Amino acid sequence: MLKVTIDGSIYDASNSERLIEVINRVGAKVPQVCFHPQLGPIQTCDTCMVETNGKLVRACATRVAADMEVFTKSARADAAQRLAFDRILGNHLLYCTVCDNNNGNCTVHNTTRQLAVEHQQIPYKPKPYPVDNTNPFYRYDPDQCILCGRCVEACQNLQVNETLSINWEDPHPRVQWDGGSTIGESSCVSCGHCVSVCPCNALMEKSMIGYAGYFTAVPKPVLNGMIDVVKAIEPEVGYRAIMKISEDEEAMREHRIRRTKTVCTYCGVGCSFDVWTKDRHILKVEPLEGPTNGVSTCVKGKFGWDFVNSPDRLTTPLIRENGKFRAASWDEALDLVARKFAEIKAQYGPDALAFVSSSKCTNEESYLMQKLSRAVIGTNNMDNCSRYCQAPATMGLFRTVGYGADSGSIHDIERAGLVLIIGSNTAESHPVLATRVKRAHKLRGQKLIVSDLRENEMARRADLFLHPKPGTDVVWLCAAARYILDEGLADTVFMNQWVNGLEEYQKSLAPFTLDFAARTTGLSEETIKKVAHMVAEANGVCVLWAMGVTQHSMGSDASTAISNLLLITGNYMKTGSGAYPLRGHNNVQGASDHGAMPNFLPGYQSVDDPEVRARFEAGWGVPLPKNKGLDNHEMIEAIYKGQLKAMYVFGEEMSLVDSNANYVGEGLCQLEFLVMQDIFFTATCRFADVVLPASPSLEKEGTFTSTERRIQRLYEVFEPLEGSRADWKIIRDIANRLGANWNYDHPSDIYREIAALTPMFAGVTYERLEGFRSLQWPVAADGSDQPLLYTKKFAFPDGKARLFPLHPVEPTDQPNAEFDLHLNNGRLLEHFHEGNMTYRVPGIRGKTPDTFVEVSPELAEERGIQSGTWVQLMSRYGQVRVRALVTDRVRGKELYMPMNSVESPVNRLTSSHTDTVTHTPAYKEASVQLLVLPEALGENPLPRTNSRWGHPTPQRGVEVERKWKRADYTVPGGNGLVQIRRN
Ligand code: SF4
Ligand code: SF4
Ligand code: SF4
Ligand code: FES
Repeated sequence: MLKVTIDGSIYDASNSERLIEVINRVGAKVPQVCFHPQLGPIQTCDTCMVETNGKLVRACATRVAADMEVFTKSARADAAQRLAFDRILGNHLLYCTVCDNNNGNCTVHNTTRQLAVEHQQIPYKPKPYPVDNTNPFYRYDPDQCILCGRCVEACQNLQVNETLSINWEDPHPRVQWDGGSTIGESSCVSCGHCVSVCPCNALMEKSMIGYAGYFTAVPKPVLNGMIDVVKAIEPEVGYRAIMKISEDEEAMREHRIRRTKTVCTYCGVGCSFDVWTKDRHILKVEPLEGPTNGVSTCVKGKFGWDFVNSPDRLTTPLIRENGKFRAASWDEALDLVARKFAEIKAQYGPDALAFVSSSKCTNEESYLMQKLSRAVIGTNNMDNCSRYCQAPATMGLFRTVGYGADSGSIHDIERAGLVLIIGSNTAESHPVLATRVKRAHKLRGQKLIVSDLRENEMARRADLFLHPKPGTDVVWLCAAARYILDEGLADTVFMNQWVNGLEEYQKSLAPFTLDFAARTTGLSEETIKKVAHMVAEANGVCVLWAMGVTQHSMGSDASTAISNLLLITGNYMKTGSGAYPLRGHNNVQGASDHGAMPNFLPGYQSVDDPEVRARFEAGWGVPLPKNKGLDNHEMIEAIYKGQLKAMYVFGEEMSLVDSNANYVGEGLCQLEFLVMQDIFFTATCRFADVVLPASPSLEKEGTFTSTERRIQRLYEVFEPLEGSRADWKIIRDIANRLGANWNYDHPSDIYREIAALTPMFAGVTYERLEGFRSLQWPVAADGSDQPLLYTKKFAFPDGKARLFPLHPVEPTDQPNAEFDLHLNNGRLLEHFHEGNMTYRVPGIRGKTPDTFVEVSPELAEERGIQSGTWVQLMSRYGQVRVRALVTDRVRGKELYMPMNSVESPVNRLTSSHTDTVTHTPAYKEASVQLLVLPEALGENPLPRTNSRWGHPTPQRGVEVERKWKRADYTVPGGNGLVQIRRN
């Protein structure tokens, strides 16, 4: 700690602090237009000038030093601050009263007020560029741009999309996209970082424009007239009077604009933000202080919410009658569901019913669904879509370290010396998490290895990109592990203290020689050795993996191999290390955590453990079934066997996202009674007998658990659309019709019950999760949580981890002469899963209108395929017709198809083979034949406005040194200033 004197008062400071942080902490008032705590010093605005040791310094770029004496309001500092801000006003017209950004958080407005600016000295000068409206979600107005560079810094070094720059050498600098493209045709991925950090109205969400203010919807000519009036009277009345009017208008807005915190409904990263609304219109999503994301979002979280107000929303229950659906009242539909469930249970027994919970819905809703299944119906036939993706990762971790979850936080991933990504298109599937890796790699020299079939964005950025043959991850992982052990590179101290089972494990590695691995995987021995050395020698390794690993017939083994590798190299129990299976859906972690599984009650408490059952039986007041129930995969088989008669599925598009979709669809047809509950009439609803209209996340309260075990609250942004209901209320009402007598009035009532019955969540309360507060499980009764999962021990009775022996396994459904191409599949950045929500966002649909199949340039040449060629893909299980996209992201005879399609879902092609341990479908093991269709060449499936066509312009950040070199730049306050380079 140091002592720093600021304006005559002495304060404590730590030597890692920036002067601006100390100034802000102690409440001294210094303007700071370009500084943003999450971006660090940018040094473009010069408004934070303060005087220390007789010199002017930028407070944002200066580290505190012992006995520093700082004057924030000395004559020189004050003059420099004012001159710097005057220059800013030369770039920005103050028309606050008619500006949609006049909401109390405009930095330019607030600094004008803070400095009590009456008149500006440097006249405002527009820039010779038009407004750029070419992005569907936001626009750039150069005339309002103060060239602070926050947007550039965010795009270059936080999002690391590297689209933005400022042409400092130009007579009229401006923000540029790809060095001079329109936004619409640039590499911009519409993540919104730049818009979220812009301190004024130069970058604005289009959904704000004309909606936020009282006078901002007026036609442009009238608006311009009003602005002219303001300009004309300013010299006479001064800004203070003008600002007073705008502040009154701003105060009026407070009454009609609501800001409600929510958690993103898309992927498992768990971004949280405020949603600004006016009635049912979403003005904007404002990420600010989410514990995971701060100001970060991706396109879906920032702009992907139009589906909530889509006219396609279901608003009345539907009942099938004579093969057709008819509208029904809620009472009629719920009575029918309860009656049929009771009848089927009475006739065939409880195990003739099965329940599928939604990984998109809340923890409380999954809890109620499994309680309905177990306590009301009496069956453990209960699952969620983690069966489709994450169950093998969970199994790999159960086997080795005890908990089936990320072993640390996203902060740990940022801090790792090496990140190893396997079978995960992280930049598209977990975009905000990927930004943290890209940032650490770019700015901090973090090493990155990517193993994937496709050369995705992370692969292109990697220090080492591995392209093993499909389905061979176990082999190269085990070969690397064997090499590490053989060469004495393992962390023996860690293993001696914390790891059991080395001998057996090492014996199992015997077949995994480098030679065998090279022949099997197609990777060279040198490459595998290099990976082994990088892992063994790194200062902390985090392994990130996803469906490229898990959706294989040996998905559990590959996940186990990852955890084994981490154990032998001592990469658990410390920050910057560990295993990170990246959870796909926003609440797939939470759905499993809260008991939506056939073998576990909430908190992974086994259904066959008498002590556990006794506790729940006492809590719920009913006897509970003892045997493991059916998982999703077994449910379909049980329908075909005539054992399963009824299903209740909510928020789950089973008929498209389960593998071998034709088979699943035909199975669902055979059910005696199917209840579907969703926000849209989905493809799976076609098979239903009753469809119940539910509410999306913005219309309810509850909690989600993200990939890093982070439990967060969401609040009700809108009331449920008339006719729809929150899922927890629907489940409750069905249970009560079956005699359950549940009295939950609010999701917090449900969580109190969960916490009482589940040691892992003992200390979780809604109060502890208020606002943006969060908890990472396990949470002790006193509320203390565990960002790093293993600190004192592993989750086994003796506290030690277990190395798990493995054996080579061949993938299923391999290519042969007839089905000669390997088909891979996965997500696209813009869409979520099949696209039921994201296709209802016009801006997203415009940029990615349809699915396609990626074809390598080699294969395209061999078969005469161009981008836009219609092809038919045929597998042993079905066929689809799609357009080709020729790209070097894929190689040779490997194809890739994004999963976002209702019309041509990739799962018509995938098989019913599964991971042998967890029954997760082997989606990534599919072979197809490709037929070029004799149809006219279609449009390129990726429109020119898709970001993948862009040409990013990577640079170190805003590169303010180039501004300082301009002939017309002088340091405000004179020569005393020491230019401090970025750090
Ligand atoms: S990628 Fe686009 S939206 Fe995201 S920060 Fe860069 S310019 Fe802005
Ligand atoms: S557009 Fe960028 S440079 Fe211009 S004011 Fe906004 S954040 Fe600053
Ligand atoms: S990264 Fe995931 S959680 Fe974050 S905004 Fe995007 S979809 Fe939502
Ligand atoms: S806040 Fe802009 S230069 Fe310091």
